Amino acid sequence: MQQVKGVIARAKDAPVELVTINVPDPGPGEAVVTIQACGVCHTDLHYRQGGINDEFPFLLGHEASGIVEAVGEGVTEVAPGDFVVLNWRAVCGECRACKRGDLQYCFATHNAKQKMTLEDGTELSPALGIGAFIEKTLVAAGQCTKVDPQARPAAAGLLGCGVMAGIGAAINTGALTRGRSAAVIGCGGVGVAAVAGAALAGASPIIAVDIDPVKLEAARNLGATHTIDSSQTDPVEEIKRICAETYEGAEGADVVIEAVGRPETWKQAFYARDLAGTVVLVGVPTPDMTVPELPLADVFGRGGALKSSWYGDCLPSRDFPMLIDLYLQGRLDLDAFVTEEIGIEDVEAAFDKMHSGEVLRSVVVL
Ligand code: APR
Ligand code: ZN
Ligand code: ZN
Repeated sequence: MQQVKGVIARAKDAPVELVTINVPDPGPGEAVVTIQACGVCHTDLHYRQGGINDEFPFLLGHEASGIVEAVGEGVTEVAPGDFVVLNWRAVCGECRACKRGDLQYCFATHNAKQKMTLEDGTELSPALGIGAFIEKTLVAAGQCTKVDPQARPAAAGLLGCGVMAGIGAAINTGALTRGRSAAVIGCGGVGVAAVAGAALAGASPIIAVDIDPVKLEAARNLGATHTIDSSQTDPVEEIKRICAETYEGAEGADVVIEAVGRPETWKQAFYARDLAGTVVLVGVPTPDMTVPELPLADVFGRGGALKSSWYGDCLPSRDFPMLIDLYLQGRLDLDAFVTEEIGIEDVEAAFDKMHSGEVLRSVVVL
């Protein structure tokens, strides 16, 4: 066991606190990772607000990279000294989804079995099974994916959540390729990552939609060929017009990615796709939202697919090293997502900045 500093949310809506945390030595199948960087994500704020569940206190932080310090019995995936990006859940390799090759839908994912605790013994709930605003964290070894250690830690860690969700929505769920058009509605961190993913896949045109011109600027920097301010212009008509300009007869985009998580924008995505096109929902709706009422004839008549993207439908073992390699080759600008590097004591301030919308990501660097 060792004692380190970490950031917790003790109770609903209370400001976060930097406290001393007991981290057990890794047991069978577990690893202790020295955290180098961890992005501040909306989900951390949702935990603090009690919007995910009420299993307080939470150990926040989950978009992280670091160095494996120690591994428990039977661990072969990683070894001390490896540079790794953490993922939410280790797959079991044995359930029906795993056996048929759909590891991203594993029914029996797991995290570390032992618990990190406060000094008085209170067990902590790690955010998304990680908990990485901390000097060292305990995870299941399968949550660690080894990547090229030349990557900047602050950039690499972002693959652990929002950036992977966005890129994966474009390349895995949307299966974009050269010769196909893409539109992305909502250009926060997830949406601009989807734009970057569409660019990596060779899609064209890549149309970014947002109500905030600053976000559209970021999208342009990451590969959008066209931008639409949907507070000024009807995005559906404009997407159709742009796609028809590129591909004769096109009636919309081949893949429309919804990265806001609202019924109105999902409906725009539905009508902005070409015949046989795909809608990908990657924005996270609240539990009270419903699919907008649509004529069934419109669903039938357009063909294609209505999909949702779960963690970018990613396989960390395949996608994390690939994206880090592309980053090191200068083909994926992960640095563009890092607005600022901050200290572990600045998480609360980073939550405030999130509201103002001026940052893509604040990243805690240790
Ligand atoms: N039309 C277009 N864009 C919109 C609209 C709208 N009606 N409403 C909001 N937006 C834009 C915002 O301007 C912002 O740029 O959607 C973007 C949302 O981005 P963020 O709040 O930064 O969220 P992000 O981290 O990108 O996550 C997107 O996925 O993880 C979830 O909870 C998250 O639902 C959110 C979504
Ligand atoms: Zn499984
Ligand atoms: Zn996240």
